[in-house]
Amino acid sequence: MFTVDHELLKTLKMFDKPGPRYTSYPTAPVFSSDYTDKRFEIDVIRNNHENPAPLSLYVHIPFCDTLCYFCGCTTVVTRNRTQIETYLKALETEVKRMAAYVDKSRKVVQMHWGGGTPSYLDPQQITGLSDLLRQHFQFADDAEISVEIDPRELTYEHLRAFREMGVNRISVGVQDFEERVQRAVNRIQPERMTRDVLSWSRQLGIDSINLDLIYGLPLQTVQSFEETLRRVIDLSPNRIAVFNFAYVPWMKPHQRLIHAEDLPDPDTKLRLLASSIEMLGAAGYEYIGMDHFAKPDDELAVAQKKKELHRNFQGYSTKAGADLYAFGMSAISHFGDVYAQNAKTLPDYYRAMETQRFPTSVGYKMTKDDQIRKFVIMRLMCDLEVDKAEVEDFFDISFDEYFDDSINQLFDFVRMGMVKHTLNKITIEGMGRLVLRNIAMCFDAYVAKFKEKQLFSRTV
Ligand SMILES: C[S@@+](CC[C@H](N)C(=O)[O-])C[C@H]1O[C@@H](n2cnc3c(N)ncnc32)[C@H](O)[C@@H]1O
Ligand code: SF4
Repeated sequence: MFTVDHELLKTLKMFDKPGPRYTSYPTAPVFSSDYTDKRFEIDVIRNNHENPAPLSLYVHIPFCDTLCYFCGCTTVVTRNRTQIETYLKALETEVKRMAAYVDKSRKVVQMHWGGGTPSYLDPQQITGLSDLLRQHFQFADDAEISVEIDPRELTYEHLRAFREMGVNRISVGVQDFEERVQRAVNRIQPERMTRDVLSWSRQLGIDSINLDLIYGLPLQTVQSFEETLRRVIDLSPNRIAVFNFAYVPWMKPHQRLIHAEDLPDPDTKLRLLASSIEMLGAAGYEYIGMDHFAKPDDELAVAQKKKELHRNFQGYSTKAGADLYAFGMSAISHFGDVYAQNAKTLPDYYRAMETQRFPTSVGYKMTKDDQIRKFVIMRLMCDLEVDKAEVEDFFDISFDEYFDDSINQLFDFVRMGMVKHTLNKITIEGMGRLVLRNIAMCFDAYVAKFKEKQLFSRTV
């Protein structure tokens, strides 16, 4: 079991600086409008002819009933439900347009409904959208189908509709059980609601359940968060995500509705993280890596032991090598060397859907250097080590020469016992897990370029 070194913990705030979360590399600020829908179209054609891997589908439902002040997701807050029909029509157009290009023999091995709030759709709309996808894509019998659940507006009928459409994993937003904290972020969610969702899911046979928490929210104290953790442990989910609050008011102005003086300082945040690691560890959860914990028999924990873990826009995943095709406003596709993001506002998305084009707004084609660095960063994030010979064989480079500069930047981590650097490997040790983002940043070619710009949340 991972143990927290409390002496070292006190020094970790020296690493507190803005940094990416590495759900992709390069990260979104590199994407540009030079990458057009026409280039995307050619890349989709090429992907289908040259390298037709299995598929991972993502559908973004941006709508939410109310605004949580902490929210960093791409959302549209409205209680006007008539909008959803227009959105579903546009999604239908996009799905059909893409399906015309995709080889029918490519099986969908993974599908994720994200948001916003997918259960903003009513049960009939859930069934309709799922039927549409199944008409146009061929799903593998054992496809992993997951959905993000906000318990506040969810009914048993919503969950039953998701289950009937093949959903076998849910990720439930909790954030914090403490009422004072809930009030400060405008998200009142009594524990009863979360308990109901878990018991309905288990009744329906959805037995892979993840709960999301956030540490660093206003008014959180070590004591209050430990109480939340106790209540979460009692619910016994298979996985728990404990996200570091991404406070980026310059990008998400509504976060200014949070009183900055109510936010815990970096020392307290580190203690909140330490409590999470200690309490979840004592309750039998394994610390997977950035933000994520899982029971030892959960696929994530098993895959990590076998070095088969991957990282994508949803966090950690066990599905390797699938090409991600994403639908809806702001959704990001990723396959081969391509990243392509859809229009980021509803009017732009709808406008694109009225033409014969894909709704691409920005994108990026990775260079060889990006591919090499992505490989190294993802191995560090998933396996907590990188095998130099593997990188050398794969990319035909000399690791130590290629990463001379990165290795120099690792000096402090090596000195403090958080990274072990040998002839063959770079391994993250002990408390290095708490500053994974900082260690990965040593291998990121864009960090210096973005240094002057406010783009990322803080790492501690
Ligand atoms: C895309 S949201 C959607 C989930 C769903 N709408 C809900 O709120 O339950 C998924 C998760 O992202 C996390 N999240 C949202 N904003 C965040 C932020 N600014 N910093 C860290 N985590 C955040 C929350 O834990 C949330 O449950
Ligand atoms: S946290 Fe979830 S429900 Fe709240 S605004 Fe963000 S996406 Fe919507």
